[in-house]
Amino acid sequence: MNYHVAQAAWLNAINNFLLKNISEIRADFPILNKKVYNKPLIYLDNGATTQKPQCVIDKINEVFSSYNGNIHRGVHAISDKASEEYETAREKVRSFINAGKREEIVFTSGTTGSINALAFSFGERYIRKGDEIIISNLEHHANIVPWQMMCERKKAKLRIIPINDNGEILFDEYLKLFSPKTKLVAVSQVSNALGTILPVKKIISVAHTLNIPVMIDGAQGVQHGITDVKAMDCDFYVFSGHKIYGPTGIGVLYGKEKWLTELPPYQGGGDMVETVTFEKTTYNELPFKFEAGTMNFPGAIGLGTALDYVLSLGREDIEMRERELLEYATNRLSGIDKLKIYGVSDKKISTISFLLKDIHQYDTGMILDKLGIAVRTGTHCAQPVMDRFGIDGTVRASMCFYNTKEEIDVLGTGIEKVISMFS
Ligand code: ALA
Repeated sequence: MNYHVAQAAWLNAINNFLLKNISEIRADFPILNKKVYNKPLIYLDNGATTQKPQCVIDKINEVFSSYNGNIHRGVHAISDKASEEYETAREKVRSFINAGKREEIVFTSGTTGSINALAFSFGERYIRKGDEIIISNLEHHANIVPWQMMCERKKAKLRIIPINDNGEILFDEYLKLFSPKTKLVAVSQVSNALGTILPVKKIISVAHTLNIPVMIDGAQGVQHGITDVKAMDCDFYVFSGHKIYGPTGIGVLYGKEKWLTELPPYQGGGDMVETVTFEKTTYNELPFKFEAGTMNFPGAIGLGTALDYVLSLGREDIEMRERELLEYATNRLSGIDKLKIYGVSDKKISTISFLLKDIHQYDTGMILDKLGIAVRTGTHCAQPVMDRFGIDGTVRASMCFYNTKEEIDVLGTGIEKVISMFS
């Protein structure tokens, strides 16, 4: 056998292995077998929320049916068990993003909750009149509005990194935004609307040469590959559980210990206190200082199971599958006359945002829906991205490892049907 034949056989063997695996993987997600309008569900809205594997569904069920006791509060057995599982989940998150210490992992309600907490707390501690925060034109509203609210409170200013027609940030323009008033950079790891992967390592290293901390919004990044907060050297990192195959209502705020120690708590109430008198309250140690009230412990425990699941598939494998899907879908969709893709960077996750000439995105989305295909339409909570391109929204197909090329083919045929209906 010559080298090329051997290589082809080898690739074929790997492909067969992957094909076998994809049906096993899909079997882990009960919803993927469902039908809508009597058609197989083709779920391409993973940017909005991901589906849950059976192990996560079972874990939530296990918490409520076996040890639903409020964490860190009881001396009784089920409270102890829930507390232990909750802290185990914290350790799983720590290890998943390679944070140094469990004290650096704060559970929140999600990415939005994390950024709002940080914007409030950071603003109270460090921001004065005239100070500046740098964000980018690619941000979703959750990484714009909390900073805007903080700027209004503190009379500070937002500075925006512009983007080019491919949907990539203009790095030279980023460099020009720094001033002695710059106090923080807060950017996405990946754009939710276009799928662009931002050069976060470079962004962080420039800011650090000026001693300016950086927050990375991992809402659309953490589920698509390996995130290593130590290697990235970000000061803060946030993400949501529901976008990484975990439950809704749970998220993470990672912060380097030195920052979390200095920042004030943003909410008061049970578990974030050490002692309380009417004269003065002292605060609990990290990370509890930022976890007021009864936390969503079933959500955190479910998130821990979701991260185990992702690790069991292998993050390199997930990345590889999704890269293949992106390539396949880009080829299939860009072959369709009248279809324009928005966001054509060569550094993208498996998301394709597009419009059909003279057809409103809602019409496209609604017809695709009737064919069983779930896509997102509209601004994707990222209106400034749409404004940059002079459009009022797109259709977004956001794929992940459990999607298949066959599903992309159905999407392609569905889009062609939409075009023929309107012509
Ligand atoms: N931020 C979520 C999305 O991109 C909801 O769809």
